[in-house]
Amino acid sequence: MQNFAPFVNPITLTPLQKTDLFFEDYVTNEKFPIKKEIPRFCDEKNYSESFGYQWNTFREIQLDSKSDTDYSYRRFYTLTGWDPKKLGKYKVLEVGSGAGRFTEIFLNTTSGLLHSIDLSNAVEANLENNKINSKRLSLAQASIYEMPFKNNTFDKIFCFGVLQHTPSFSESVISLINKTKVGGEIVVDFYPIKGWYTKIHSKYILRPITKRLPSKFLLRIIRFNIKWMMNIFDLLCFLKLKVFTRFIPIADISNFPTALNVKERKELTIMDTFDALSPTYDNPQRIKDVAKMFSSNGCEVSFAGIIKYHENSYAAVVRAIKKTHT
Ligand SMILES: C[S@@+](CC[C@H](N)C(=O)[O-])C[C@H]1O[C@@H](n2cnc3c(N)ncnc32)[C@H](O)[C@@H]1O
Repeated sequence: MQNFAPFVNPITLTPLQKTDLFFEDYVTNEKFPIKKEIPRFCDEKNYSESFGYQWNTFREIQLDSKSDTDYSYRRFYTLTGWDPKKLGKYKVLEVGSGAGRFTEIFLNTTSGLLHSIDLSNAVEANLENNKINSKRLSLAQASIYEMPFKNNTFDKIFCFGVLQHTPSFSESVISLINKTKVGGEIVVDFYPIKGWYTKIHSKYILRPITKRLPSKFLLRIIRFNIKWMMNIFDLLCFLKLKVFTRFIPIADISNFPTALNVKERKELTIMDTFDALSPTYDNPQRIKDVAKMFSSNGCEVSFAGIIKYHENSYAAVVRAIKKTHT
């Protein structure tokens, strides 16, 4: 029978004592508050607040259970290659959980315990979405750079759609490696650099402005403009001119589930467009460079490439096994 890995001071890695209101470090006298049942190991004000706003506003939109799809299920199991029957034996950590769509998949398809962190208050959306399985979920608001766990703790770590949104991709990879046991496995996916044209995209042209706008205001602008942008996007695709859609400041909606009705498709487009324009950091990477970040920090890379996990849906993935103790 597995136990949860105990929380430690994220900086000194010393043990903490739990009270009803906080986790306390008796050595440094620091207190880490528990708010809305979730321990908080980072400042509430941080660069990821737009994600907190996004995931609390669109809390259920990407849950397989609410949208009657298997997108998250397929992405989770195709990318990791993990066997749900075996996951119950392992200590598993999810980094950057957002509203918890993969948290849900893990908890619904395994008998295991899951540790999960996110820097933003999206953790509140995650807990709400997964409250039915919350006894098997150890959730905390914390940064990938200061995770409240001892080094060499986890057998499996997954981190999907997060690393490009952190200030230093390579430092984030090192943090994941630190928390993995020797012999443990890390699976990440991220925005790839596909070629010289990757950053010639309206999103990268507008982001210096849009990422500075208050989240509520940006969302209002997107809502106001979404209809004409979707119409032009669909028209260009119909005319087989998809290449020009990059000049419309809208998410790529060509790979959305075909089963969505008009209203659902519009809401998902609004959410994905906000997701594209609001984050403080957006640093796509070459797959070979990410593989090197792992191999030059004591890991063996078992896979690095593009994986198709659904019709028209692809992800850039690196899987690595930790070989040396941190
Ligand atoms: C695009 S969302 C992906 C969420 C989820 N993995 C999913 O695919 O639905 C990126 C998430 O990374 C989180 N994030 C960004 N920087 C982080 C950091 N330094 N530590 C932990 N989480 C971080 C954000 O708060 C956000 O929820």
